[in-house]
Amino acid sequence: MGAYDETYRRSLADPEGFWLEAAGAISWTRPPTRALDDSAAPLYRWFPDGELNTSYNALDRHVEAGNGDRTALIYDSPVTGTTRSYTYRALRDQVALFAGALKELGVGKGDRVIVYLPMVPEAVITMLACARLGAIHSVVFGGFAPKELAARIDDATPKVIVAASCGIEPTRVVEYKPIIDAALELATHQPERTVLLQREIAPGKLGERDLDWETAISGVTPVEPEPVAATDPLYILYTSGTTGKPKGVVRDNGGHAVALAWTMGAVYGIGPGAVWWTASDVGWVVGHSYIVYAPLLVGATTVLYEGKPVGTPDAGAFWRVISQHGVKALFTAPTAFRAIKKVDPDGGEIAKYDLGRFQTLFLAGERLDPETYHWAHDKLGVPVVDHWWQTETGWPIVANPRGLEPLPVKPGSATVPLPGWDVQILDAGGVQQAAGEEGAIAIRLPLPPGALPTLWGDDARYIDNYLSRYDGYYLTGDSGYIDADGYVFVMGRTDDVINVAGHRLSTGSMEAVLAAHPAVAECAVIGVHDALKGQLPRGLVVLKAGVTIDPETLRDELVAAVRRDIGPVAAFREVSVVEALPKTRSGKILRKTMRGIADGRDEPVPSTIEDATVLEALRPILRHSGD
Ligand code: COA
Ligand code: AMP
Repeated sequence: MGAYDETYRRSLADPEGFWLEAAGAISWTRPPTRALDDSAAPLYRWFPDGELNTSYNALDRHVEAGNGDRTALIYDSPVTGTTRSYTYRALRDQVALFAGALKELGVGKGDRVIVYLPMVPEAVITMLACARLGAIHSVVFGGFAPKELAARIDDATPKVIVAASCGIEPTRVVEYKPIIDAALELATHQPERTVLLQREIAPGKLGERDLDWETAISGVTPVEPEPVAATDPLYILYTSGTTGKPKGVVRDNGGHAVALAWTMGAVYGIGPGAVWWTASDVGWVVGHSYIVYAPLLVGATTVLYEGKPVGTPDAGAFWRVISQHGVKALFTAPTAFRAIKKVDPDGGEIAKYDLGRFQTLFLAGERLDPETYHWAHDKLGVPVVDHWWQTETGWPIVANPRGLEPLPVKPGSATVPLPGWDVQILDAGGVQQAAGEEGAIAIRLPLPPGALPTLWGDDARYIDNYLSRYDGYYLTGDSGYIDADGYVFVMGRTDDVINVAGHRLSTGSMEAVLAAHPAVAECAVIGVHDALKGQLPRGLVVLKAGVTIDPETLRDELVAAVRRDIGPVAAFREVSVVEALPKTRSGKILRKTMRGIADGRDEPVPSTIEDATVLEALRPILRHSGD
């Protein structure tokens, strides 16, 4: 039996022993004597009697071990022309100082802090400062509009917001302060203070409750890490569900630290001192886990990149960063590679840089199409590792465990379930599917440490959304199959979640925006295949009887409304006015059938359809891509 097989079996046969052993990689103020607490099943908790501080584990303990001069963070920002490094000691000192500033503002254990910062070191500092105090951070991605920010403010009810005056996109400066002010106008909950990081390119106007970062930290006393229960929340990260209301995924302190530290070695093959780069954003789970927490927990060097794969300044940007900082492994989304391939199909830029220290490319966040896999593999000449996970799980469910035992790659498969994840394929009735047969991907409970224990303030919604479809299982929302060798193939979502440039979005929330337009009687938004972004949203609207409006005007108004209410990240540009939407006899809109036709498949007419002529009339419109 290979190392993977043996480890996987042990993790499921003896989770208690397996995870207590893994917990040995973490420094505890009170070491756990038990791993799993199943007393409130199906709500499970890990390390119920353990106590620790995540910021201490990410920073202080490396300094105390004599590694304070090792580089913790390299900030590489082509959009501002800055490169800056922080040693572990320097980062710890800044985190302790900013934690002192938050404490002076009244933030303590269990208080929430909303973080609305772009890819700057202060984002990492704020997250770790919250962790140091035992406060709970909730980072909101900069591409979201005020209404989305307001929804998160009302759900998390933060004491303080920490933000920057602006984010910098390749073509424009996005002023954050007006977005925050607009969000606070919309929100019911009002935080006491806002700390604003003033950026030279576009400083923000300070209001009564605002103070700038420099003022906040001046004269404050650095704070020591506050021990918290392993089961206390470390952060809330909102993600799209099928409704407009975002889901507040909760992450605990103990299980998260244990699981992430374990993955850095076993999955990514990264240890102390290695240079690791995740090209994502701190606003997403990939950024939380693999820009901030995991690399620092194991004493590696993490690269924080404020730029894009193309346009900052060119398609050689990734290779420049890899060679300049001696990156050993890169983790990003396939869409980044598709963007590079589009501009530099022959990979001419790659030859300009010395990639001698680069060993592995990890891709996740969306389906890795075979063409992108082959391009990356051929051009870079290193293993290209697809792996599958979700905001909810916090770390990969299925991957090629490179550090444990590199397994042969099968393009199209994310490889095998990682230890702790009992992955099953179920049919509609909950029956396990045979090898090669597609079905819903479900995970037998309990989920391993690091996965969400619940949704913020809403156990009922957690149980209802994830645990009630199949008794004893967590529903991933993805479909797929497992082949005879145990390789998992993820085929796509079974719900209304779409994936645009690696960003998870809800078509339901876009439909809510379209439906609010006075001319719209009914609408549907579907995710259709896009060669660059993987998927793009497409709106289909039925006008109210008697309404006449120029389709171009309506389109512009709807596109502007989605941008205003959800944000530019939705990349919503395509709208078709149609006579009617195809529905089942019970009134359910046939979104999956429409999506199939739009993606070029010959979708059969479902037997449950109410009026087949509606679908036939739509076929040519759906097949037309719009650009
Ligand atoms: N703050 C404000 N606006 C943002 C933003 C941010 N942090 N991130 C994106 N936006 C805006 C963009 O400027 C763009 O606005 P526009 O409509 O005015 O052009 C819009 O949101 C859509 O952004 P995006 O989907 O990123 O498209 P893009 O064309 O700007 O870039 C890629 C495409 C592929 C280069 C880019 O998506 C990318 O680098 N992806 C890497 C993968 C990644 O980060 N995945 C995250 C999960 S792993
Ligand atoms: P997020 O929560 O934003 O990380 O998005 C999670 C969703 O992205 C998953 O449920 C999948 O639908 C999709 N996804 C992530 N990684 C992969 C992958 N490697 N292959 C296919 N789909 C993926």
